Amino acid sequence: MNETRPASMASFWMPFTNNRDFKLHPRLLVSAEGMYYKDVDGNTILDGTAGLWCVPCGHAQPKIVAAVREMIGQLDFAPTFQMGHPAAFDLAEQLMAYTNHRFGHVFYTNSGSEAVDTALKIALAYHRARGEGSRTRLIGRERGYHGVGFGGISVGGIAGNRKPYGAMLPYVDHLPHTHNLEKNAFTRGEPEHGANLADELERIVALHDASTIAAVIVEPVAGSTGVLIPPKGYLKRLRELCTKHGILLIFDEVITGFGRLTTPFAADYFDVEPDLMTTAKGLTNGVVPMGAVFTKPFLYEAFMQAPAGIELFHGYTYSGHPLACAASLATLEVFREQKIVEHAASLQSYWEDAVHSLRGLPHVIDIRTIGLIAGIELEPIAGKPGARAFDAFKKAFADGVLIRTTGDIIALSPPLVLEKKHIDELFGKLAKVLKTLD
Ligand SMILES: Cc1ncc(COP(=O)(O)O)c(C=O)c1O
Repeated sequence: MNETRPASMASFWMPFTNNRDFKLHPRLLVSAEGMYYKDVDGNTILDGTAGLWCVPCGHAQPKIVAAVREMIGQLDFAPTFQMGHPAAFDLAEQLMAYTNHRFGHVFYTNSGSEAVDTALKIALAYHRARGEGSRTRLIGRERGYHGVGFGGISVGGIAGNRKPYGAMLPYVDHLPHTHNLEKNAFTRGEPEHGANLADELERIVALHDASTIAAVIVEPVAGSTGVLIPPKGYLKRLRELCTKHGILLIFDEVITGFGRLTTPFAADYFDVEPDLMTTAKGLTNGVVPMGAVFTKPFLYEAFMQAPAGIELFHGYTYSGHPLACAASLATLEVFREQKIVEHAASLQSYWEDAVHSLRGLPHVIDIRTIGLIAGIELEPIAGKPGARAFDAFKKAFADGVLIRTTGDIIALSPPLVLEKKHIDELFGKLAKVLKTLD
């Protein structure tokens, strides 16, 4: 027996996993390098999902590994409550530079979920700080995914993530989602139809009054709900309406940040300026957990008008952890040195053509692509939603490619350092899998 196999799998309550099925048929990864994982049986698996969208620079990136190793020997932990360490400040400056100084400040968290809850709290506290404390309502969107904190699931719109957990946050409303297979199937980039759905915000404003609404939060491209790409003009319209009504606009860029759309952020791709931006994942190349909320200068300034003392009663023990900061600083260096975003952009059309070559295969009812993301929607098996795509996931893994599925949608988001040969391998194997599905 392979010595790296765990003696028992009983005690680990696995997240977002069919535990009973997994423990009967485990998929155990033991190492990773570049574009590939190795599993416990020695098989090589092409990473079609950058882990969980979080490894843009590829696995075991030497510079990032070295930076974390060095930091752990130097400063294993340092508080950031009434204390600090240089890397946390250096990183904040570099992150702001990476946004071309369109944002002014960074609040560190440890995950995307915490970044979302932090952004929502900053939005609420901001309005209160400047005397508009009646703005307590938060607006999310159907099919949105904003992590698993109570704030995130309240503004999120995936039923399965909400229904076991009771009432959640009060004063939350949802915009409609923008997915429209009848009008927009097999689109490359932004779909034509649906910008008018942003106008639903007017309906919500008319119902509750703008003076009660603090913020709107959306994923510029929704990932976990199955790759929903905003219709042309939709995000710009949302921005206009938020500005008109004094509502803060939060972009949840946890998956779209750091090059995924072939621009640094989705805000760049869509040329829309949110007031706050949540990030995580690619921020440290997935090496050390970290999230960050980017805020426009006016937000921080509003808090600095308060009487002397702590301005924002919020933070995490590990906000700005030295290892996470080291990983993130090194990640930014790799982005610069290896021109990761430019490389991703150079592959975009090859990627798009490869994805759309799956059109016509059995059960494929939609294909959508943007940046280095793909969504491949399968016809569900009657009475068994999600089963067909999950079967594809298992078969693909057995054939040596890691894909991700949500419902009956296959979502692909490879490390941005991939080459054409990896695209060929990914879609060659995936096409074979799709042909074998019931
Ligand atoms: C858009 C978005 N927001 C938030 C999160 C939550 O991030 P985390 O799992 O790091 O808490 C995710 C995770 O996939 C995400 O896609």
